[in-house]
Amino acid sequence: MAVEQREHRWLGKSVKRKEDERFVRGKGNYVDDVKLPGMLHMAILRSPFAHARIKSIDTSRASELPGVVVVVTGEILAEHNLAWMPTLSGDTQAVLATDKVRMQGQEVACVIAETPYIAHDALELIDVDYEPLPVVVTPQQALEEGAPLIRDDKEGQEDNRIYHWEAGDAEATERAFAEADKVVSLETFYPRSHPSPLECCGCVADVNPATGQATIYMTSQAPHAHRTVFALVAGLPEQNIRIISPDIGGGFGNKVPVYPGYVVATAASLLLGRPVKWIEDRTGNLISTGFARDYYMTGELALRDDGTMLGLRVQMLSDQGYAYADAQPSKLRAGLFHIVTGSYDLPAAHVVTDGAYTNKAPGGVAYRCSFRVTEASFLIERLVQKAAYELGIDPADFRRQNFIKADQFPYESATGFVYDSGDYEKALDLALEQLDYKGLREEQAKAREEGRLLGIGIASFTEVVGAGPSKDYDILGIKMFDSAELRVHPTGKAILKLGVKSQGQGHETTFAQIVANELGLPPQDILVVEGDTDNTPYGLGTYASRSTPTAGAAAAVIARTLRDKAKKIAAHLLEASEDDLDWDGEKFSVKGAPDKAKTIQEVAFAAYTDLPEGMDAGLEGVKYYDPPNMTFPFGTYAVVVEIDRGTGQWKPLRVLAVDDCGVRINPMIVEGQIMGGLTEGFATAAMEQITFDEQGNCIGANFTDYLLPTAWETPSFELHETVTPSPHHPIGAKGVGESATVGSPAAFVNAVVDALAHAGVRNFEMPVTSDKVWQALHEVGLAE
Ligand code: CDP
Repeated sequence: MAVEQREHRWLGKSVKRKEDERFVRGKGNYVDDVKLPGMLHMAILRSPFAHARIKSIDTSRASELPGVVVVVTGEILAEHNLAWMPTLSGDTQAVLATDKVRMQGQEVACVIAETPYIAHDALELIDVDYEPLPVVVTPQQALEEGAPLIRDDKEGQEDNRIYHWEAGDAEATERAFAEADKVVSLETFYPRSHPSPLECCGCVADVNPATGQATIYMTSQAPHAHRTVFALVAGLPEQNIRIISPDIGGGFGNKVPVYPGYVVATAASLLLGRPVKWIEDRTGNLISTGFARDYYMTGELALRDDGTMLGLRVQMLSDQGYAYADAQPSKLRAGLFHIVTGSYDLPAAHVVTDGAYTNKAPGGVAYRCSFRVTEASFLIERLVQKAAYELGIDPADFRRQNFIKADQFPYESATGFVYDSGDYEKALDLALEQLDYKGLREEQAKAREEGRLLGIGIASFTEVVGAGPSKDYDILGIKMFDSAELRVHPTGKAILKLGVKSQGQGHETTFAQIVANELGLPPQDILVVEGDTDNTPYGLGTYASRSTPTAGAAAAVIARTLRDKAKKIAAHLLEASEDDLDWDGEKFSVKGAPDKAKTIQEVAFAAYTDLPEGMDAGLEGVKYYDPPNMTFPFGTYAVVVEIDRGTGQWKPLRVLAVDDCGVRINPMIVEGQIMGGLTEGFATAAMEQITFDEQGNCIGANFTDYLLPTAWETPSFELHETVTPSPHHPIGAKGVGESATVGSPAAFVNAVVDALAHAGVRNFEMPVTSDKVWQALHEVGLAE
């Protein structure tokens, strides 16, 4: 379906977010707001050890505490074949530990009690006898000869390797390196971080003992997929499971995996015949739920002396924790990491990736990024900057020289992506112009003479979002289409139901705008419903910026289908031929007689009252949309920093972003998404990292140790746009939710490196803390 070339009434309009009416008044309805009659409360006992054999669990003291209804252990679950569950990547994960614990914070037992306080008090009365085992905390250790075998529960698993995966053409890449004048390499690490949504995870499971109907209110970014997993795990008939995701206080990929708490609460409700609520605390969320990143990467660029890129070789090792549990398209073991060729016309590339088990929480979720694109983008943008210094070419010129040019699209990358569209030079030019790049370089040189250290960092990223086309993308075999169901009521008001699920991205507003634009109803007359599996069509949920490219497209297509039917009805009402009607975005009128017209509201009424002969009543339909390709948003980010030579502290002076996500539905919402991503990019570059000691203790189990940026330290942002519509999306939109997280960390690090590049500094590992910078200043003789 082509992009329609007509004036958009409702696209590109910063319509105020409908959902904010309830959010800013504290009237949202989150899982913890759900209170059912007779509801019990669950608390989870977590392992203090990262790796230990469980010799015994004695629950007798806890069970005797008044108010405790039952203490659930893995042994009890095993009797119902529920001790282990499948993950969304086709691995297995313990629901409650039976044989061993394999990470600190692992779920060992659950107390179900009359109040949450009693449930938490009873945890202290459970006696677990652990025999500590040797701990594996890095993927390098995990793959060493003789490393302790973490997943000895899995038949045929003889070491800690989860996967080995390659993309691109090894031979062509070898040839490119053989021909190269110069090879530049960079070794780097993208640290483990945590999505840290404001609302932790939780559920209220309500299984009706009389009907067997299970209603589960759940913090889920993918309620339909979760219902299917529940049907598979619990063996419950799928029609008896209803998952409702009410308002969600941020997801960022953290609410994609299925967590043990959901499963135990549901099993307990099934066994007890009463509703059971589980609300995770902050430490539980930080130490046990979906982490992100944790990638060790080495990249090598083969170059001609004149700066032409000939080839790229990449090796990557991923720390997945003790289970491979992030939602991952099954054909793409390391996600979309092979987009590592970025915005560059690289004739050859070869990517080798390995994933390893360690004694940590399962990780690798799509945290504001499309399946590992953040790591890939960071590597190429850091490597390109280093290569520019080694070649003695300005980093901006070097990028421009090697960009895929605007007339090369659609462009097939060396690792097999077909980029739908792009104009990278335009975005770079706009950034440089807005920055006054030339002037800034002069200022930098002058500042240096005065003993001040300024740095200018650039990153020109390409994202790949909108998973995805069914030929390549599935989760557990379920194709990654998405859906929209639209019904126009007789009074011309509509309800739009989607398979995706907003966690704060503003879907209630933007998807209403899409339908409004196609069907001529004002957005405020269109109610958008998501997150109830009984009342929305099947879809794979919201993560990895997929909602606009998939469900957004489905909404546009179904609205057009309804408009086609509306036109037939209008022709009947106007006693004209369909071909004689014009559509102005709100009404149909007879060509040459604009007064003879019917509004879409009048037509909607007629759909129930006055139909052409033989036409079915109603104005409604459903569309399952299988996208023909991914969408490829892009942009250039530029950061200017100054380093304090006395302390090593660096401060962003300017953060400038040029984004291109095709047609913007709601510019204000898009800018909000970009600001969130830039904040996250800054946080990763400056402060966020979850570390572990050699016993596998998680350092970063609370917000005192794990630093999230506040408004105080977050810099202000200058936002700009270019518009290159996606040629295959019905309204020309590309996803945007993740772009800034993907694009910006490299720009921040590049800026700090740039301030010291003249002294030979080429790299900083994230987070770029002031002590690392001070150390470097000291080594190159610039410390004060
Ligand atoms: O899947 P998710 O909603 O996280 O990401 P997205 O599809 O990139 O959309 C994020 C928000 O930005 C949604 O409310 C979109 O409708 C909106 N958006 C937009 O207004 N214009 C675009 N071109 C892309 C997204």
